[in-house]
Amino acid sequence: MAKLFSEFKIKNLKLKNRIVMAPMCMNSSDEEGHANNWHFIHYAARAIGGIGLIIVEATGVEDRGRISSRDLGIWKDSHIEGLKEIADLCRSYGAQTAIQLGHAGRKSIIDYIEPIAPSSLAFDESYRVPKEMTKEDIKTVINAFKEGARRALEAGFDAVEIHGAHGYLINEFLSPLCNKRKDEYGGCIENRARFLIEIIRAVKEVWPEDKAIFLRLSAEEYAEGGHHIEDTIEVVKLAAKEGIDAVNVSSGAVVHAKINVFSGYQISYAEKIKEAVDIPVIAGGLISSPEMAEEIIQNNRGDLVFLGRQLLREPYWPLRAAKELGEEIEYPHQYDRAKY
Ligand SMILES: Cc1cc2nc3c(=O)[nH]c(=O)nc-3n(C[C@H](O)[C@H](O)[C@H](O)COP(=O)(O)O)c2cc1C
Repeated sequence: MAKLFSEFKIKNLKLKNRIVMAPMCMNSSDEEGHANNWHFIHYAARAIGGIGLIIVEATGVEDRGRISSRDLGIWKDSHIEGLKEIADLCRSYGAQTAIQLGHAGRKSIIDYIEPIAPSSLAFDESYRVPKEMTKEDIKTVINAFKEGARRALEAGFDAVEIHGAHGYLINEFLSPLCNKRKDEYGGCIENRARFLIEIIRAVKEVWPEDKAIFLRLSAEEYAEGGHHIEDTIEVVKLAAKEGIDAVNVSSGAVVHAKINVFSGYQISYAEKIKEAVDIPVIAGGLISSPEMAEEIIQNNRGDLVFLGRQLLREPYWPLRAAKELGEEIEYPHQYDRAKY
């Protein structure tokens, strides 16, 4: 039996297979961050295609926390209705859903807001120099993550993912390359992780104990003085102690760096985290073939496999993957006559 099509459980999240749709910004909301037909059709199509878990794109917990002004938002109650539509549609077509709660920090390109960051360092010359966050700003953003989680719950998502990767705000605190603070939020790894830990605690105040919380991290920053896998393992251990239920392993985008990208280029990081910490790991990065996804699960290099761009090209990838791995899976009855 193909293990890719075996069930997996994280708390009360019951996945019918190990295939995860990676969070991917669609740049398609209205200027106020509301979801629309694009999101409903885009996500529902992947649910119909047989994906076990759909992680909805980075969704701003503050207006100034969006990367662009067309990103989804979750900073006010008017966002709940559209997000609920996404979660309901996906569930009705057999997928479980998570939503990625994010804050862009210094990488926001919205021109009407002032970007914020742990330290006043721009990403590069084309970005604005962010305002260094005060303790008050830190409290405000932590509370915004908590309020975002409350709205995610009201919208009916099965899980939330805290976006701690790709050089956005949480990652800016974690990385010694962008965090030069002299207070308790900077310096040693415990201090740099303090902002993340306080966010996890705040989210847990409103997020039910039986529902999963994921954390996405850039496991490798590909730059001297930045995080490498050993540092990331330390962060995962700190987060796991706070009750994070799974880690979604990505890499890069903290500073400009040369990355040697090839099929499966991030899997070794996922594997090392899995060896070091006893929580489920979501592995991926340039996976396109069913055999490769199956190999990752069979060899215990990840518990779940994420696919991003392949699912943009091919929303029904799981149907083809089942065929290629010799697995009989249930088709939407409307498509029964199209079985491979
Ligand atoms: C269009 C697009 C948008 C993305 N947006 C996000 C995002 O919102 N959050 C995130 O964590 N990663 C984002 N990513 C990264 C993907 O989640 C994924 O890690 C990356 O594409 C590598 O996987 P792949 O090779 O299977 O595409 C995005 C990638 C793409 C292509």
